[in-house]
Amino acid sequence: MKQFLSAYDVKSIPAIIQSALEYKAAPWKDETLGKHKRLGCLFMNPSMRTRLSTQIAAQQLGMETVVFNVGSEGWAMEFEDGAIMNGTTVEHIKDAAPIMGNYFDILAVRTFPGLKDRDADYNEHIIHQFIKYAGIPVISLESATLHPLQSLADLITIHESVLAKSITNKPKVVLSWAPHVKPLPQCVANSFAQWVNVWGEAEFTITHPKGYELDTQFTKGATIIHDQEEALNNADFIYVKNWSAFEQYGTMPPYDGDWMLNNKKLEKTNQAKVMHCLPVRRNVELSDEILDGTYSLVNQQAANRVWAAQAVIASMLKT
Ligand code: CP
Repeated sequence: MKQFLSAYDVKSIPAIIQSALEYKAAPWKDETLGKHKRLGCLFMNPSMRTRLSTQIAAQQLGMETVVFNVGSEGWAMEFEDGAIMNGTTVEHIKDAAPIMGNYFDILAVRTFPGLKDRDADYNEHIIHQFIKYAGIPVISLESATLHPLQSLADLITIHESVLAKSITNKPKVVLSWAPHVKPLPQCVANSFAQWVNVWGEAEFTITHPKGYELDTQFTKGATIIHDQEEALNNADFIYVKNWSAFEQYGTMPPYDGDWMLNNKKLEKTNQAKVMHCLPVRRNVELSDEILDGTYSLVNQQAANRVWAAQAVIASMLKT
């Protein structure tokens, strides 16, 4: 694997889930695979789970990791070709990325959408510039439109729970929009939809208020229902996430009803397990009673971030 930006960079999703589970069972089984190799982790915005799990994963493969908080500690970076840099940006990606390509064996990058210019965000201009100029394999630690390591961890978690719940048919998985106090990217929702659709091992429904439709390139294949109660009927898994509008890009159109999940809404489900990528705004996106209850998978999801990262880094090291 030369790059890991989306579900389409993985040859086989079942195979990489299996690889992750093998690392979960034996974390140090490939502890020399990355010996004398270095992973650079670049963060252009905050992170807890992604930063820590990626470092742990690399360490268990014998790699050394260097973390660089570009957003808060580095020179302000310019990504526009031909830019006259007489403003606030100090260093062009054309100059910075090749140096990182010299320092590291694999580059992992977290970028973020501006949520102002949809075309710029959905072209994934920033992460593609890193790929173009670094000249080494690149892992997305979340980009403008997708969060592939999160989605892989999510599928690992669903796979484990399907086995634990002895579900024999395809589980019903519902991606359910949740309220938030500010506009958030569509990355996690886009990415989860993409991975579930490519995986093909679930009956997939998405529910959200009108005005919050996601880009159909990620959702095609899913059933879209605007009535949350109807969508949750017989659900085995509910993935809760807020996102801002794709059409009226980056805005928060008004909506009717109470979209926060609580125990009452779980009554018509198939004892559904509840997922969220975290961080979560308690009692805005998800109620305390769900997060602190027995149906929550959020800690298992976060724990599985290590094994997802380890499977992906190992796959790159073996290429
Ligand atoms: N889920 C996730 O990516 O968490 P962080 O933003 O803390 O890395």
